[in-house]
Amino acid sequence: MSVRKSSEGLVGPGVLVISPDPSMKGLIVPAGWRLLGVVASLGAAAAVIPSLKPDVILASHEAASQPGFDEIVRFIALAYPDIEVRISEAATPSTGLGREEDPEAPPGATLSGDERRRRFGPLVPGLIVVWSPKGGVGKTFVACNLAVALVQSGAGPVALVDLDLKMGDVAVHLDVVGRTTLADVLPYADELNHQILEKYVIRHPSGLRILPAPGRPELAELAQPEQIRKIIDAVRKEHAFSVLDMPADVVNEVLYDCLEHASRVVLLTTQDPACLRQVKIVTALLGKIGLGNGEKLMLVVNRFSDRSPVEIQKIEAFLGMKAMAVIPEDRDLVEASVFRGRPVALEQEESQVSRAIRQIAVGVYPAADNARPVRRTATTLLSRLFRGRGPSGRSEGGRR
Ligand SMILES: Nc1ncnc2c1ncn2[C@@H]1O[C@H](COP(=O)(O)OP(=O)(O)O)[C@@H](O)[C@H]1O
Ligand SMILES: [Mg+2]
Repeated sequence: MSVRKSSEGLVGPGVLVISPDPSMKGLIVPAGWRLLGVVASLGAAAAVIPSLKPDVILASHEAASQPGFDEIVRFIALAYPDIEVRISEAATPSTGLGREEDPEAPPGATLSGDERRRRFGPLVPGLIVVWSPKGGVGKTFVACNLAVALVQSGAGPVALVDLDLKMGDVAVHLDVVGRTTLADVLPYADELNHQILEKYVIRHPSGLRILPAPGRPELAELAQPEQIRKIIDAVRKEHAFSVLDMPADVVNEVLYDCLEHASRVVLLTTQDPACLRQVKIVTALLGKIGLGNGEKLMLVVNRFSDRSPVEIQKIEAFLGMKAMAVIPEDRDLVEASVFRGRPVALEQEESQVSRAIRQIAVGVYPAADNARPVRRTATTLLSRLFRGRGPSGRSEGGRR
């Protein structure tokens, strides 16, 4: 918990209260603490954390008994390891946490540090890495759509960073070609703050915030791994989720850094035997260097077709892990979506592909399960009118 110095002297920790009862009955905010706000649920708290930047989240008895509370505490622990979550005493009377650990602590059970780690696994920042050792398996497609699905589920600010520096095509998938890229941000890597980021991050109509790859291999050559690390760190601090689209490299300093620090790694495979073999090799490797724990690695099968003899059970047996989502092969839908630069997750919400993407979003952000899409744009409605007509069957919204 931090105590900051201000011009008037010491300033206590900032607290965000979660209480379905706005009068905060039964909750005492200790003297000296700064009350930053009161929200009705942990899900709502997750959305305001990036702007309010609380040091402590204090949940009332009622808030702590809401369904899914543990999952969302876990999400907060993953995305914001520095924030302490406290639950009012009555909610968890038997844990014995908090007061014994910290005599200064106000009445309440504290979930922080080692205890959170014990209950919720390793705590790492809200970095989501989408990766596969094989090219062309849908990393960019999944990264773009997962990022949009997270925005739609009200997860708070979500960034998508294209780390396929040489050949990245996030900008194509999201129709933001020719605008700012990581190359514009590189010179500021050492001093990257909120203002500079705001200047260069592209705002997608979905609400997603994008940093595309430079788009030219010679510009990518200029990027030093240390600069990329600093940029990722700056982006991470400003967003509830930062989704990283990766190249297919297996030997890449930045990749291993990201894999290590990510809270989730979406590892993509297809049914293609060559892809499966490569995925098997890297999962064994990741296991050896301690990055392959089951909690963090989420296996996703993309471009699945039941015409292939390689069934899901065979894939799971071969790789020794369960697939958390299976995205069907749907060329009409996906190719049209990429052609138009409009994510399937935004425009074809009811498709099997979108459902599978949402399943990944729920794996990353459990509250996404209950969340409704937060934005339904005119474009979405328009696209429904034109559904099934293919890329050439419409005049609105082509490539700019
Ligand atoms: N589920 C899917 N169904 C059909 N086509 C897909 C699917 N996922 C991806 N694709 C297509 O596969 C190609 C490669 O996808 P991409 O995301 O660029 O792969 P990567 O980033 O792994 O190289 C693209 O043309 C994309 O349209
Ligand atoms: Mg790609």
